[in-house]
Amino acid sequence: MPEKFETVTDKEEVQRQLAFIESGRQFVDNLKTKLGRTPKACVTTFGCQMNARDSEKIIGILSNLGYEITENEDADFVLFNTCTVRDNANQKVYGRLGTLHGYKKKNPDMKIALCGCMMQEETAVDKVLKSYSFVDLIFGTHNLYKFPELFVQMMTRDITIVDVWESTNKIVEDLPIVRKYPFKSGVNIMFGCNNFCTYCIVPYVRGRERSREPEEIICEIEKLVKDGVKEVMLLGQNVNSYGKNLDRDISFPDLLRMVEQIEGLERIRFMTSHPKDLSDELIAVMKDSKKICRHLHLPLQSGSTRILKAMNRHYTKESYLELALKIRREIPDMAITTDIIVGFPGETREDIDDTLDVIRQVQFDNAFTFIYSKRTGTPAAIMENQVAKEDIKVWFDEVLSLVQECARTQTAKFNGMVADVLIEGMNEQDANLVTGRMSNNTLVHFPGTADMIGQIVNVKLEECKGFYYLGSVVNG
Ligand code: SAH
Ligand code: SF4
Ligand code: F3S
Repeated sequence: MPEKFETVTDKEEVQRQLAFIESGRQFVDNLKTKLGRTPKACVTTFGCQMNARDSEKIIGILSNLGYEITENEDADFVLFNTCTVRDNANQKVYGRLGTLHGYKKKNPDMKIALCGCMMQEETAVDKVLKSYSFVDLIFGTHNLYKFPELFVQMMTRDITIVDVWESTNKIVEDLPIVRKYPFKSGVNIMFGCNNFCTYCIVPYVRGRERSREPEEIICEIEKLVKDGVKEVMLLGQNVNSYGKNLDRDISFPDLLRMVEQIEGLERIRFMTSHPKDLSDELIAVMKDSKKICRHLHLPLQSGSTRILKAMNRHYTKESYLELALKIRREIPDMAITTDIIVGFPGETREDIDDTLDVIRQVQFDNAFTFIYSKRTGTPAAIMENQVAKEDIKVWFDEVLSLVQECARTQTAKFNGMVADVLIEGMNEQDANLVTGRMSNNTLVHFPGTADMIGQIVNVKLEECKGFYYLGSVVNG
């Protein structure tokens, strides 16, 4: 498939699917009469922010079909939006399907659907069809927008409906969406990935990189802001290559400048930045911006140049360090977080020492550490020298403890300062506290009430508790 191919924004398809929502309502209505109550639907999301955003689209459709949305999987319609980035994500889905089967035996009207990245893998679909034949509908990542149509098919036929596409060049947006949070939202700026890091399944299950037109993105954010959103998270597997497949000359920094102009929008986040494409222009835009949050997620994966090469990451230990330290110099209050993989094929003690060295030098504000998981179909899966489990365990613990030590030191730096905090919800343990997020992504808990949720307030950071703060609101 060519690297660059034409992306089509399909508006007619939106109308087609809206018509299926209209006709789908009758099935939910009939079920309501039969059950004597409003049917309930539950969507469970595995994986990343992209999947979280996709689930909001599915919930939007289900609400419009007439379902009451619940978080309880003992419901009349349950959908798992799956992830396959690491094997444990897959195992979780199989485990939970067993539980669903129990619910379905009690509730014969129950329907079960699977979608998302795992369903793009033939082996996973085959396994579901063979061992979990009670599943009613399976679809993939490329045809999520077809859910209303597939829903109608599912309600009219008694077999498992399977509709998974290998790829697409279409972008179909503008179907109804129900956001999880009224005050913040993810916004897809691009889909897919062209990077083919050798360990990673994402390019195979999410297809080639497709950027949305800037006008569409701006229009979506303007609508969100009118609807009460204060913070957006621009989503893409590698936002730094935004615009590369569009016919016009537009870069990610250009897009950020446009988003910055949107009146009423207060905070901008984005995810994920690939170090190989992070330009000086982006650093300058971040530095000058009043709205871009002081948090950059910059996945390292490994600190060893040799392993980075085998991973096809297109940067070296030295170039990563140079970049991260430049950002630290230019924007000192910018939190830098990262992802690290331990146990990539061929990794040795020396390679781990390099990773530990980078962690020490950059002093990451936080990091997700993953044990390498072999993904069938990726180049790394057939590499020789898969690392012994015992080594991985020792190295993983070392990396994790250093990362945690850095995170604690970095978090503690703000003790006694006042920070602006977006209040995201009530504290789960203490009903007198609310929980919010600083621009640099640190969580803060402080006295407050439910009516404050969604506001940005100034909070004195009084007590550092390791990775989070306790504080109190200050006036002004
Ligand atoms: N596009 C993002 C990452 C998406 S996947 C980026 O390039 O940074 C999120 C994280 O999962 C990756 O950063 C990587 O650390 C981890 N990951 C991906 N594939 C993996 C695998 N096979 N085993 C273990 N971790 C993996
Ligand atoms: Fe996977 Fe690499 Fe693409 Fe990220 S950039 S999604 S790690 S292939
Ligand atoms: Fe998982 Fe797919 Fe995201 S594989 S990490 S849900 S893009």
